Amino acid sequence: MINATGNPQRIVLFGGTSEIGLAIVAQYLAQAPAHVVLAIRPDSPRRRAARDQVEAWGATSVRLVDFDAAAVADHPAVVERVWADGDVDLAVLAFGQLGEAERLWHDQPRLVDFMNVNLTGAVSLGALLSQRLAGQGQGQIIVLSSVAGEVVRRSNFVYGSAKAGLDAFFRQLGEALRGSGVHVLVARPGMVRSKMTAGLKAAPLTLDPDQAAAQIVAAAQRGQTLVWVPGAFRWVMLALKHLPAPLFRRLPL
Ligand SMILES: NC(=O)c1ccc[n+]([C@@H]2O[C@H](COP(=O)([O-])OP(=O)(O)OC[C@H]3O[C@@H](n4cnc5c(N)ncnc54)[C@H](OP(=O)(O)O)[C@@H]3O)[C@@H](O)[C@H]2O)c1
Repeated sequence: MINATGNPQRIVLFGGTSEIGLAIVAQYLAQAPAHVVLAIRPDSPRRRAARDQVEAWGATSVRLVDFDAAAVADHPAVVERVWADGDVDLAVLAFGQLGEAERLWHDQPRLVDFMNVNLTGAVSLGALLSQRLAGQGQGQIIVLSSVAGEVVRRSNFVYGSAKAGLDAFFRQLGEALRGSGVHVLVARPGMVRSKMTAGLKAAPLTLDPDQAAAQIVAAAQRGQTLVWVPGAFRWVMLALKHLPAPLFRRLPL
């Protein structure tokens, strides 16, 4: 159960090596111990380090479950394994790939693989998790969307369109779950310094993973359904969204 102060007793992180995802887990563990399941690609070189970190942060237990976002046919079995030790209170979906739009839209098989990870994989898991959590009568989902999905840019339109789809699905999944005891928080960060953005020029309002995680966890504990990270992006994106296309096209985005 999530206790009165908003602390879950069992957390699963899909994309168990994600720097933002791990920072979210760290925030919760700093408040109260919890059992943690890390759902990670079997061939990720970061599996051991992620487990060691979560143990060092004081998790009551840490268990690894193999998980490939693109292997949607395996998702029901993955969810079964995640639930093997009992109810899960919080599921964090933090997997994703940034990709290069130019390369992807010229290469159909790669494009489809990319969408299977970033969009179809997330949607598939969202549906399965919702059923499990609603069956328990309680629980929370935090999903990592992006400001890139709110205003999709030419330079990043493949990633942006995957996030737009993910964002729309989870926003309305939260509505569909109203009254079930299950809450969905869609987090829309701007740029965060993680391995996903390593080597890229820092954009305005760039945060570290722990800064982003602190804002996301605070929003989850307040019961919000949407959080911009940082909050200023709400207004930046509102302005960008309403720019006429010829003007928007000229921006260095
Ligand atoms: N960093 C940013 O600026 C930013 C901004 C907005 C939103 N986000 C979103 O936040 C989430 C976390 O990103 P991050 O910054 O923490 O990046 P990250 O550290 O690179 O984490 C990405 C995670 O996705 C996992 N992953 C990739 N492909 C996968 C697959 N096929 N199956 C399962 N897991 C897979 C990676 O696992 P491996 O260890 O196997 O590679 C890794 O755990 C992502 O959804 C990202 O789109 C990031």
